[in-house]
Amino acid sequence: MYDIDAIRRDFPILARQVNGKPLVYLDNGASAQKPQVVIDAVTQAYSLEYANVHRGLHTLSTIATEKYEAVRGTVARFLNASNPNNVIFTSGTTEAINLVSYAWAAPRFAAGDEIVLTVLEHHANIVPWHFLRERQGVVLKWVECDANGAVDPQAVIDAIGPRTRLVAVTQMSNVTGTRVDVAAICAGARQKGVPVLVDGSQGAVHGPVDVQAIGCDFYAITGHKLYGPSGSGALYVAPERMGELRPFLGGGDMIETVTRDTVTYARPPLMLEAGTPSIVSQTGFGAALTYLMGVGMPAIAEHEAALRDYARQEFSKRNWVKVQGDTPDKGAIFSFTLDGAAHAHDISTVLDQRGIAVRAGTHCALPLLQHLGVGATCRASFGMYNTTDDVDALMSGLDLCRDLFG
Ligand code: ALA
Repeated sequence: MYDIDAIRRDFPILARQVNGKPLVYLDNGASAQKPQVVIDAVTQAYSLEYANVHRGLHTLSTIATEKYEAVRGTVARFLNASNPNNVIFTSGTTEAINLVSYAWAAPRFAAGDEIVLTVLEHHANIVPWHFLRERQGVVLKWVECDANGAVDPQAVIDAIGPRTRLVAVTQMSNVTGTRVDVAAICAGARQKGVPVLVDGSQGAVHGPVDVQAIGCDFYAITGHKLYGPSGSGALYVAPERMGELRPFLGGGDMIETVTRDTVTYARPPLMLEAGTPSIVSQTGFGAALTYLMGVGMPAIAEHEAALRDYARQEFSKRNWVKVQGDTPDKGAIFSFTLDGAAHAHDISTVLDQRGIAVRAGTHCALPLLQHLGVGATCRASFGMYNTTDDVDALMSGLDLCRDLFG
């Protein structure tokens, strides 16, 4: 049974008040709160077990290295990757996708080569490809979503032409919660011999992930949305792609030897992890993933599906609220606008006065907002600890907005 009360007790911040009201945290899409096990793991690492990793032979360095390296195995288990060495640590999804752009795509792509993207993408899965467009003449090909925000996987596969070198696609929109059938896209792209990068920033938070079943070449996740510390994250690279990566950042720990005239590189994944990493953040990330696997990602997905359905029902009672993009199986992420003059920022401010945290703005997804024809939205994004009471609080806050703004 999903013990929501016990789960809420695991997150100390949920007991606090904001502006004199109990916190209703609905900004999980931007960053999730941290359970006590993560806070404890970080505190323990700094209090008792801190040293640099991979460099020292002394006891603390050995402990820190063992704990840090164990997280690679935890990430592999979380994603069902066959080997921890297919996991590269990054500071989050943004670095992971930039890494693919610099370490894999840039040395391989030529002017006129194409990258297929969907209009749902977050800027982190757009701007690194714009770099290749600006610097190397790579062409970005866009696949649209329909009026409900849905992307037809066949449309993505059909967009793959003879010059397509990569499909880069999100598993779940951070704006609308739309799920994309990335397994179907990977199957179609594989038949055409084209690798696929999946942005799992949101997808991995809201349901189980199996990178082998998806069949992707790259899968990026970010720790702070997965209830772990900021500055943590990982990139899964399929075994057949690993040997194709070139060094991205140069520095300590990514080399085999350096002379005045030559350099040889460590084997991946270390070759892609130059410099002192986010040691403690990654250790906390491991604690977060262990916590999530303990609760069970299928159970979290089921809990959030019930919340989504309840929120959808409550939104539908308010015909003056326009939910942007609503597909039946979407994640529990709702972007909305209100009829009339109320700006998303004003709505967010009113909600904040009632202790309700939502995000307002363009959500780092300007092409999608342009496609939807809206300047800015409010976004309520639910997580594993939210309840139907949180939905009710949001709705009563929106009712107040209607009274205030007309
Ligand atoms: N990508 C994060 C969001 O959707 C920051 O809010």
